[in-house]
Order: sequence, then structure tokens, then C-alpha cells
Amino acid sequence: MAHNLLQGKKGIIFGALDENSIAWKTAERCVQEGAEIVLTNAPIAMRMGEINKLAAACNAPVIPADATSLEDLNNLFTKAMEHFGGKIDFILHSIGMSVNVRKGKPYTDLDYDFFHKGLDVSALSLHRVLQTAYKLDALNEWGSVVALTYIAAQRIFPDYSDMADAKSLLESISRSFGYHYGIKNKVRINTISQSPTRTTAGSGVKGFNGFISYAEKMSPLGNATADQCADYTVTLFSDYTRMVTMQNLFHDGGFSFTGISYPVMEQMEKE
Ligand code: NAI
Repeated sequence: MAHNLLQGKKGIIFGALDENSIAWKTAERCVQEGAEIVLTNAPIAMRMGEINKLAAACNAPVIPADATSLEDLNNLFTKAMEHFGGKIDFILHSIGMSVNVRKGKPYTDLDYDFFHKGLDVSALSLHRVLQTAYKLDALNEWGSVVALTYIAAQRIFPDYSDMADAKSLLESISRSFGYHYGIKNKVRINTISQSPTRTTAGSGVKGFNGFISYAEKMSPLGNATADQCADYTVTLFSDYTRMVTMQNLFHDGGFSFTGISYPVMEQMEKE
């Protein structure tokens, strides 16, 4: 059900690859809530993905940008402002990739070129996006930026490997930039720490089936879905959360604060 929470707002959505993507669901929800959006993804992902289908459904232009390229980001923000005829109110950063995870490299045998690449794509890209917007003065006062993260930034999940370090850095950048953009322009910046979710990026992690069902059993409300994540993100883009900034917000059905649950205890007692 829509409530026009984003009526009149304009936003850029990074990271819709296919209909399972968290960014895909968020794009749809933002438009249902009255927003106008621009979609973007890395040029290579757009060739593989189905973004044009989403663009047609959302009546949104697609402007390719590799989030590690300042040139691409400059072009994206400039074109987006031309398209909207003004500044931007919200940004979703829904980007993650680790070559080490993709290639199954264990944490104790990382390739450092891959590690650099992973940090650049998954974490520094948020800084690049924010710095580009800041320098172009592309965001309206009370604008809102959300980036997606995972609890492996705080606790060890062995097969999440170097993505855990990338997520820690991502959360730190959102906090640090949140200060600077807050005092400049009242822009708020937060991360949402989402439950494991079946998407291309999620399913790439070794043992994913194990930890999605473990998280389901550990969370009093069960795992949060991509659609529910989209709903939560809409609230953060709306005017109802104007004073929330520099936070890492767990959207995980209670997983992060559960020590043990009855289903997991029962499972352990069988051993
Ligand atoms: P996804 O695979 O659908 O989305 C990842 C996106 O990153 C893709 O659209 C991909 O094209 C984009 N991307 C990769 N390199 C890029 C680059 N250089 N420039 C621009 N875009 C680039 O998967 P999902 O799960 O929707 O991922 C979105 C975010 O949610 C990621 O940050 C991920 O780490 C995070 N997340 C995912 C969870 C899960 O279990 N699926 C749990 C918690 C957080």
C-alpha cells in the first residue's frame, strides 16, 4: 500500500541488477511512493542484467556509471540533475563485490589486488559518490543517503572473508561523511544492515544456504526480505526520519541482539 511518502522527491538508485536485487525492489517502492528516480549500474552489469525492464516500469532513465570512476559519477550526477531540472533528494548505494569471495579465496590466503578491488567497489565507492555529490552541490537540504551493509562488519562470519572488512569501512565512511554533509547541508547518511537475502551478491558467499537458515532460526521475527528492506529504506528517504544520521540500522528481524533462540537450542540439544 502506498502513502505518497516520497511525493515530489527525486533520487538515484545504484545497484539494480535483476528482480532479486534489493535495489530493484527499492526502486519500485520509491516510485510507488511518488518519487522520480534515475537508475544506474556499472556498464558491464547492465549488459548482463535486465535493468531496462525496470526502467520502463519506473519510467526512469538509466545512466551507466562504474561507481569506482569519478568521471562516470560526475557524468551521472550532472545528467541526473539535468533530467530532474534540479537537485537530488535521496541516493541508494546498493553495491557490493569481492573477487576473493567470488573465487572462493579463504581469508588467510587473500589476493591483495582482489582485496583492493573489493574495497574500492564495495566501500570507497560510497565515498566517491558522496564526494562527487558534495562538490557538485547536487543534494537538496535534508537529503538522505542509504548504503546497504551486513553484520559481518561487527562479528565474524568466516566465509564472508574480505567483504567483512569492506563493510566495516563502508559503515565508517557513512559515519564520517555523515558529519561533514550534515553540517554543510543537513544531509543524512545511514547504513542498513540487512538479513541475508537471496540475490546474486548474497548467493555468491560460500555456505550461504547454511547461514540464511541459521539467521532465520536465530531471528525472533525471521529474516527480513528484500521487499521489507525496500519499505524500510523508503522511510529513511522520507521526511519522517530527518534527524536520523550516521547510524548503522539493523534490519534483521532481531538477529543482531539475539544470543540464542529456542529453535537453535533444540537443534544443539540433538547433538
Ligand atoms: P545484487 O548482486 O543484486 O547487487 C549488487 C550490485 O552491485 C549489482 O547490481 C552490481 O552490478 C553492482 N556493482 C558491482 N560492481 C559495481 C561497480 N563497480 N559500479 C557500480 N555498481 C556495481 O545483490 P544485493 O544483495 O541486492 O546487493 C546489494 C547490497 O546489499 C550490497 O551492498 C550487498 O553487500 C548488500 N547486502 C546484501 C545481503 C544479501 O544477503 N544479499 C545482506 C546484507 C547486505
